[in-house]
Amino acid sequence: MKSKTPKESLTIQTNLVMPNDTNQMHTLFGGKLLAWMDEVASICAFRHCNNVAVTASINNVSFDLPILNGAYVTLEAKVSRAFKSSMEIFVDVFVESRDGRKEKCNEAILTFVAIDEHKRPLVVPELIPETDQEKERHSSALRRRQMSLVLAGKLKPKDATELKTIFAEQ
Ligand SMILES: CC(C)(COP(=O)(O)OP(=O)(O)OC[C@H]1O[C@@H](n2cnc3c(N)ncnc32)[C@H](O)[C@@H]1OP(=O)(O)O)[C@@H](O)C(=O)NCCC(=O)NCCS
Repeated sequence: MKSKTPKESLTIQTNLVMPNDTNQMHTLFGGKLLAWMDEVASICAFRHCNNVAVTASINNVSFDLPILNGAYVTLEAKVSRAFKSSMEIFVDVFVESRDGRKEKCNEAILTFVAIDEHKRPLVVPELIPETDQEKERHSSALRRRQMSLVLAGKLKPKDATELKTIFAEQ
């Protein structure tokens, strides 16, 4: 199976925040942003493996800045690492200002798993990172995977060797 680079599956989606998307404070409702993140990441996963992939976990979501009604919101989804059947995907969220500047306001890290018609996991192409940021995210993906599997009860903490190195460094 041919390996791929992150830019081959890069997926960018821009949405306009409408009143129906907002909360009582007239800022974007967190659940709405999560749905957009899941959607853009799902398309990115599909482009990487050319197959249907389902959300296995949403690991790290940070809502750093409120997004106002009427804002133009751009979500950029990139695969940061592919394992056997799973792919870690970063979604970076930006708000566009009137002068065209893009300010990063949110981020999420999701894991998708490619499955066949019987919902069995399928092998996905390897990911070759190119830029410095892609290389950093690729290398740190292993400990995030172990954290997610430990929290899901699918990996014993004593077997999370990469994760343990973070604490050993302190
Ligand atoms: C995701 C799913 C296919 C995993 O099935 P499973 O029986 O746990 O399969 P496996 O144990 O063989 O794991 C398959 C891969 O998923 C990964 N995985 C499973 N749970 C995970 C989690 N919580 N976090 C990160 N990765 C996870 C495993 O590490 C493995 O990755 P690898 O093949 O790259 O090593 C299955 O749980 C599922 O279908 N879930 C429902 C998905 C869905 O419907 N999502 C939409 C939102 S409801």
